Amino acid sequence: MSSVVQTLPVALAGVAANAASNVAWFAPLLIAALAYFHYELMDPESRPIDMENELLSSEYDFIIVGGGTAGSVIANRLSEMENWTILLLEAGGDETELSDVPLLAAYLQLSQLDWKYKTEPQPGACLAMNNRRCNWPRGKVIGGSSVLNYMLYVRGNKKDYDHWETLGNVGWNAEEALYYFKKSEDNRNPYLARTPYHSIGGYLTIQEAPWRTPLAATFVQAGIEMGYPNRDINGEHHTGFMIPQGTIRRGARCSTAKAFLRPARLRKNLHIAMNAHVTRVLINPNTKTTMGVEFFRNGQRHTIRSKKEVILSAGSVNSPQILMLSGIGPKEHLYEMKIPVIQDLKVGENLQDHIGLGGLTFLINQEVSILQERVQNVQTVLNYAAMGDGPLTILGGVEGLAFVNTKYVNASEDYPDIEFHFISGSTNSDEGDQIRKAHGLREDFYQAVFAPIDHKDVWSAIPVLLRPRSRGVIKLRSKNPLEYPLIYPNYFSDPSDMLTLIEGVKIVVAMSRTKAFQKYGSQIHTIPFPGCINIPRFTDAFWECMIRYYSVTIYHPVGTCKMGPFWDEEAVVDPQLRIYGVKGLRIVDASIMPTLVSGNTNAAVIMIAEKGSDLIKEFWTNEITQ
Ligand SMILES: Cc1cc2nc3c(=O)[nH]c(=O)nc-3n(C[C@H](O)[C@H](O)[C@H](O)COP(=O)(O)OP(=O)(O)OC[C@H]3O[C@@H](n4cnc5c(N)ncnc54)[C@H](O)[C@@H]3O)c2cc1C
Ligand SMILES: *[C@@H]1O[C@H](CO)[C@@H](O)[C@H](O)[C@H]1NC(C)=O
Ligand SMILES: *[C@@H]1O[C@H](CO)[C@@H](O)[C@H](O)[C@H]1NC(C)=O
Repeated sequence: MSSVVQTLPVALAGVAANAASNVAWFAPLLIAALAYFHYELMDPESRPIDMENELLSSEYDFIIVGGGTAGSVIANRLSEMENWTILLLEAGGDETELSDVPLLAAYLQLSQLDWKYKTEPQPGACLAMNNRRCNWPRGKVIGGSSVLNYMLYVRGNKKDYDHWETLGNVGWNAEEALYYFKKSEDNRNPYLARTPYHSIGGYLTIQEAPWRTPLAATFVQAGIEMGYPNRDINGEHHTGFMIPQGTIRRGARCSTAKAFLRPARLRKNLHIAMNAHVTRVLINPNTKTTMGVEFFRNGQRHTIRSKKEVILSAGSVNSPQILMLSGIGPKEHLYEMKIPVIQDLKVGENLQDHIGLGGLTFLINQEVSILQERVQNVQTVLNYAAMGDGPLTILGGVEGLAFVNTKYVNASEDYPDIEFHFISGSTNSDEGDQIRKAHGLREDFYQAVFAPIDHKDVWSAIPVLLRPRSRGVIKLRSKNPLEYPLIYPNYFSDPSDMLTLIEGVKIVVAMSRTKAFQKYGSQIHTIPFPGCINIPRFTDAFWECMIRYYSVTIYHPVGTCKMGPFWDEEAVVDPQLRIYGVKGLRIVDASIMPTLVSGNTNAAVIMIAEKGSDLIKEFWTNEITQ
């Protein structure tokens, strides 16, 4: 054994030397090392079982559409009821070794695990992208977008949830949300676990990346210099700077599939079918009662009946698409698509997303940043595969989070309007290999702005607008279920969004001037974006131009099947998440959020799914006892 251990690195180095480009050798190297260290066997739970068509029943009590963040949670919670049968249908396949590696999160985009959506051309955003279309990655894999995401564990502001209740959504408030956040949680930081805001013993493992660059501490120090506390931004207060917590386990990604589906894999009442693309919910148009679903698998059409409910958890893009294909949506749009209308509801509207400025880069004078060649090598691979440690455990490159106040909010109200994603690298750190492509930047744009600083040590921060007022919409392109829907985010269509984000950019620039960042000689990268060259530097108009060119989504689309009380004309589901006017159909995913929360959305979606599962259990167990 020991002699093999000694020869392995040599063998792996051979793989490295033989290949031309960095990525070409890196993936096989990593996979070889993981196989060698029996990584899978160390995971206490094996992978979910993918059922063949022949083994599926013709009917189930519950059919869940989409095994993503929300669907994985619901499948687990409903199958706790031993006398309920549950089918989970997922369009994608299983997770891979590569999707487990935190630092490589961006490499999953544009791969087969990604739906690879793009927005329609934007008039005032994503101008540096091909055809002004922004990339919109979404997970097409069991675990959904929790497999593609950057694993940042953020809950948002208490006021977000109390606001949902004031809109008429009885039972949705900060206290209730906290109960469900804690229900899922297994927080491995003993200091946080002791506070009233966290818990241990849940399915979802949460911890900090075990390894960090010195820039992480610098970021927190800079925040303190600027008067912001270093605090748990998921605790009592929200405003402040923090080294993030992530949904990771032993240094590897902990998707909701890993957290919730793997422990339930042997439950006899839960069937999981992967590579099953749901095309329609079948609804009796006369009684408006849900009967089942239709899906494609291995090129064939299948239908399966639901005895109690169909639960749509296909996410903010696909849940509205499936509803509209099934005859539930805005009636004019359905007429236009020649789809018979079953229920006229504002499906696809109320789209909200987090948008920020990408590529705001600062050069430094020490070799501490996460350059590709520095972090993807034989040593880091061995460190990750054998110990679950080292630079590959950094959460998608994000080493710091901050919630800060612009002049447009009252700082003493603890309701910050900007979030920073601090990255100890930038768009140039991989020389245009993947980040440029993930962000959809044009090659000429990269060549002009970032190629001149290839190989240079840098950091960057993405300021993100937390509560956008702009609203977008998702529509069908056609009635063909395999055609992608039309996505119109309408970023910055409300002018106040731009004004707030410009202030956010200025706070990042101010942060670069703190003593903490000046220890590294931090200097803003001064090559202006083509298109912004004639605008006086560092004016509001200049920042606005940068934002319009290098606009980046933080991948948090929500709201397209809005939850609201019966008097809310925009509402698609009621506060029990039932579709208005149709029996036996619920939506449980990011699309039900009436307003976007002031933070990354994965934890909020898990909370929604936990609460949604309890609502379903209450509904059906009361019915039985009645
Ligand atoms: C690149 C990226 C980075 C992100 N980073 C973070 C982060 O660091 N922190 C954070 O909190 N949030 C992050 N998010 C956001 C977060 O992951 C999402 O808000 C969350 O995963 C949404 O959950 P969901 O259940 O609504 O949808 P998803 O998790 O997207 O699940 C939908 C599932 O339904 C399946 N599906 C869709 N259509 C069909 C169909 N027709 N038939 C069958 N199955 C179907 C999909 O394949 C998918 O598995 C990120 C997202 C992305 C994409
Ligand atoms: C289902 O199981 C629950 C407890 O798990 C029990 O209370 C209920 O009576 C059972 N219902 C049926 C129809 O068997
Ligand atoms: C800011 O909020 C605090 C606390 O709610 C309040 O006392 C104060 O009057 C507010 N200031 C302004 C300028 O509105």
